[in-house]
Amino acid sequence: MESILVLFMIFVVSTNSISVAASTSTNNSLCPVDMNYVLTVPWNPSTCHTQNKPLCCQTLLSLFGIALAQNLNKNSLFQLPNLSTSISCLQDFQTNLTSLSLQNDIVSSCFDPLQFVITPNICARIQSKQDWFSSVGPASLFNTSCKQDLSVSTNCDACVDQGLKVQEKLNQIDGNSSHSKDCFYFTILYIAGVVNQFGPENSGVMSCILELHLNSQVVSRKKSHHALVFGLIGASVAFMAIMFSLLAFYFWYTGWVKRKSTENFLSHADPTEQRSILRFRPNTGSIWFKFDELVKATDNFSLQNFIGRGGSGIVYKGILSDGTTVAVKRIEESDFQGDDEFYTEVEIISKLKHRNLVPLRGCCVVDENHKQEHRNRYLVYDYMPNGNLEDHLFPTMDNKEEKKLLTWAQRKNIILDVATGLVYLQFGVKPAIYHRDIKATNILLDAEMRARVADFGLAKESSESRSQLNTRVAGTYGYLAPEYALYGQNT
Ligand SMILES: *[C@@H]1O[C@H](CO)[C@@H](O)[C@H](O)[C@H]1NC(C)=O
Ligand SMILES: *[C@@H]1O[C@H](CO)[C@@H](O)[C@H](O)[C@H]1NC(C)=O
Ligand SMILES: *[C@@H]1O[C@H](CO)[C@@H](O)[C@H](O)[C@H]1NC(C)=O
Ligand SMILES: *[C@@H]1O[C@H](CO)[C@@H](O)[C@H](O)[C@H]1NC(C)=O
Ligand SMILES: *[C@@H]1O[C@H](CO)[C@@H](O)[C@H](O)[C@H]1NC(C)=O
Repeated sequence: MESILVLFMIFVVSTNSISVAASTSTNNSLCPVDMNYVLTVPWNPSTCHTQNKPLCCQTLLSLFGIALAQNLNKNSLFQLPNLSTSISCLQDFQTNLTSLSLQNDIVSSCFDPLQFVITPNICARIQSKQDWFSSVGPASLFNTSCKQDLSVSTNCDACVDQGLKVQEKLNQIDGNSSHSKDCFYFTILYIAGVVNQFGPENSGVMSCILELHLNSQVVSRKKSHHALVFGLIGASVAFMAIMFSLLAFYFWYTGWVKRKSTENFLSHADPTEQRSILRFRPNTGSIWFKFDELVKATDNFSLQNFIGRGGSGIVYKGILSDGTTVAVKRIEESDFQGDDEFYTEVEIISKLKHRNLVPLRGCCVVDENHKQEHRNRYLVYDYMPNGNLEDHLFPTMDNKEEKKLLTWAQRKNIILDVATGLVYLQFGVKPAIYHRDIKATNILLDAEMRARVADFGLAKESSESRSQLNTRVAGTYGYLAPEYALYGQNT
């Protein structure tokens, strides 16, 4: 069934995506909204029990709209204040959905946490309720129908009309027609979170404004309870028949009203325009790991799994629950001020897929809910079974056996691989990434003995605003560590 929430789908960026691990800590959540409503409002989760994923994501977006509307009401913001809050809310959302026996990666497969983070450039530069007042003027634009009970169909229709007028006004203020769907989205949140007297959890608001399909089972159970009571007090079979036909009429009528308001909204939704306002980063497939997962994978960071100490941290070998082997790096010194900056960087780096780069799978940030010694950032990479180049070039006594000296053909390939990887970093991506610390220990060998460059990116990417950083980090793109220069001459 089509719905106005097709428009919400513009906020759904991709289908195979960042996994937001279910939260393990419940009492110290950063999320400004309590997600327990997921269990109490009568939404219908049946679409998520079938294989229709787009429809399920759409439903979940409507459901998450309740949280955003509450956040608007409480904190005056149209979206969430930063990436950590967004991740935290999505985790809470997932926990509650999991307890309704939905898949425990459904949220991460539908949403990108970045899509709910506030930025000024969405609709008429509005971020907060105050911005809204100063742009749209007095709240009297919504003075009538939207305040009232929206399960009354005439109110719903009139409110939808008012909403479209307000959206029109926002569009004029903004002037950028590609923002019009965002303005539509803000209008919905404003009606649900601020204007309507019953608030976003009201079933009228849910079905008329958020276009959330309600659980008809719950409703009919209530009605049949009434019917049962009537039966007990001696009502006739004929009376019950009237009840049921009234019920059928009710459902038919609300369905019709829903279709009608859908038409109203959809008439403003041009699919190409919807696509053009995909303002969120395309999904990169990076994963937010749970700390517990990493503890389990690395056997509590045991010495047996210790691989080595790199420039910025300690690396452990780990085996994830799905059996894949990974390298987990605990970052000890970092260029990042806040978690947001770190997450953004992980997003950028994990987007880089190249035959000669070590793939970054994701990250994990351990917050203040954990013990001091674990409060760190972790990066999770694909495991490179043949270790680093240094060990092959300069085998030490204890690894001489396993690390055989390289053949000349292998050496030639490795040089070409490294060069290809570096060329990709500098010329194949925008902004260019300057490695600055290329050395034999940063060149890893995969199962086929092909070289992959490690330790690139992470706060070293180039940009005009960051150019002063270029001089700070020792070395440049052209810098070759002595080992590498030596090795280069050998061939
Ligand atoms: C969170 O819960 C733990 C125990 O479950 C408790 O020790 C801690 O004080 C709680 N933190 C907050 C902020 O409530
Ligand atoms: C639902 O989410 C809230 C946080 O918003 C959490 O406190 C609660 O435990 C979750 N409920 C379930 C059943 O997971
Ligand atoms: C994110 O926003 C919340 C609420 O405004 C704040 O408490 C928290 O410190 C912020 N986190 C970061 C990493 O900026
Ligand atoms: C809202 O109220 C104002 C006066 O208070 C009135 O002029 C205007 O027509 C009303 N708007 C709607 C949409 O009913
Ligand atoms: C309109 O908005 C889009 C998306 O935010 C942006 O890329 C574009 O530059 C804007 N156009 C103008 C004229 O501001």
